[in-house]
Amino acid sequence: MSAHGTAQPMTAHKSGPLKGTALVPGDKSISHRSLIFGAMALGETRVTGLLEGQDVLDTAKAMQAFGATVTRHGQGDWSVQGVGVGGFQEPADVIDCGNSGTGVRLIMGTMATSAMTVTFTGDASLRKRPMGRVTEPLALFGTQAYGRKGGRLPMTVVGAARPNPVRYALPVASAQVKSAILLAGLNCPGETVVIEREPTRDHSERMLIGFGAKLEVERRAEGSVITLQGQPQLRAQSVAVPRDPSSAAFPVCAALLVEGSDIFVPGVSQNLTRNGLYITLMEMGAEIEFQNPREEGGEPVADLRVRFSGNMQGIEVPPERAPSMIDEYPILAVVAACASGKTVMRGVKELRVKESDRIDAMARGLEACGVQIEEDEDTLIVHGMGAGGVPGGAICATHIDHRIAMSFLVLGLASKQPVSVDDASPIATSFPIFTGLMTQLGATLTQA
Ligand code: S3P
Repeated sequence: MSAHGTAQPMTAHKSGPLKGTALVPGDKSISHRSLIFGAMALGETRVTGLLEGQDVLDTAKAMQAFGATVTRHGQGDWSVQGVGVGGFQEPADVIDCGNSGTGVRLIMGTMATSAMTVTFTGDASLRKRPMGRVTEPLALFGTQAYGRKGGRLPMTVVGAARPNPVRYALPVASAQVKSAILLAGLNCPGETVVIEREPTRDHSERMLIGFGAKLEVERRAEGSVITLQGQPQLRAQSVAVPRDPSSAAFPVCAALLVEGSDIFVPGVSQNLTRNGLYITLMEMGAEIEFQNPREEGGEPVADLRVRFSGNMQGIEVPPERAPSMIDEYPILAVVAACASGKTVMRGVKELRVKESDRIDAMARGLEACGVQIEEDEDTLIVHGMGAGGVPGGAICATHIDHRIAMSFLVLGLASKQPVSVDDASPIATSFPIFTGLMTQLGATLTQA
């Protein structure tokens, strides 16, 4: 099924060398947060480099429904006139977060401690995803939620009029859950504490401090203890969004796999909570140079020079690395299929509750392309066929999942026969310029 109506099949063909510069869009996680924190701050927050993907546009629309004024001034150049912590108005209609788990879960957090009732929904993919992981900790504040069976959307959330501060140890490694609790803690008197055993992306913590909240992170034996003082006055900021390492992964991996390639990918975030794929690729023998490391917009960034790497070897990915590359397993599975030997990915059951069941989607598609796979609930093992060794020649189902679509299209650039996807339209959620950017580098992608 397509994200927004008509499915858009697309086919990737074996391509000549990829060359040139890939300017990938702004980071999706930081883009959502810049709009949300901007809406909760007083004054005008200016955002440059905002990702104009559908997920982020849906969050922009939601922030307007809560009373903020969100304005587009030019490509990636936006402003948010915020209403301050506790200043949200009750939206007059249902909040539709489209395909975005980050959007819906973070926005639930923002309204959970205000006296208002909000109904959330999303597309067919989002309506399958579990919301209990967010509504259970929010219930500790006094928030009530009424959803479909299994805590699914559509769901009506009744914010707590007199919220209690919360201390919560995350049972799953999830930045969305962590962020939802911190956002709820903003409009709650007293200290809200979140404990995470495994580090997950820390953009909310960094940005909350940047917007003037009092937030401390203490490393203890039990994990990171994050303490937020409630009811701060957030001050409007200028946010320069770095380029998304999860989006950069697609041209980077394509260049590693397509013979003769040599590309430049500037200004990519190298935040340590996001760079697990890049560490893994280097361990497999990828030729990536990290040039000119620097700080931009409060995040470490580098320029990447990536060359075809025909001798990559399969490896065992340490399970504790999973949170720092959770969105990159689909494209890693493609690289693994084109490496020699087997790549073992354990501790990845979170992939089953992403935009699709990504273990299943990758396993079925890779098998259809002639690659041998082993899987269980928490594991994906790919038996590599070496550079240029994947037969291809299949149509892969994308299940309304942008990263599944882009992963199989990258595979088609380097396999013997073309690889098609049944629907490329979900790519617009996170990487609306994917097709143009890849084609400009030299990739052969055709409609249908
Ligand atoms: C995100 C957190 C991750 C990630 C998602 C973006 C975020 O989800 O998969 O694409 O911006 O906080 P989980 O929190 O479910 O791991």
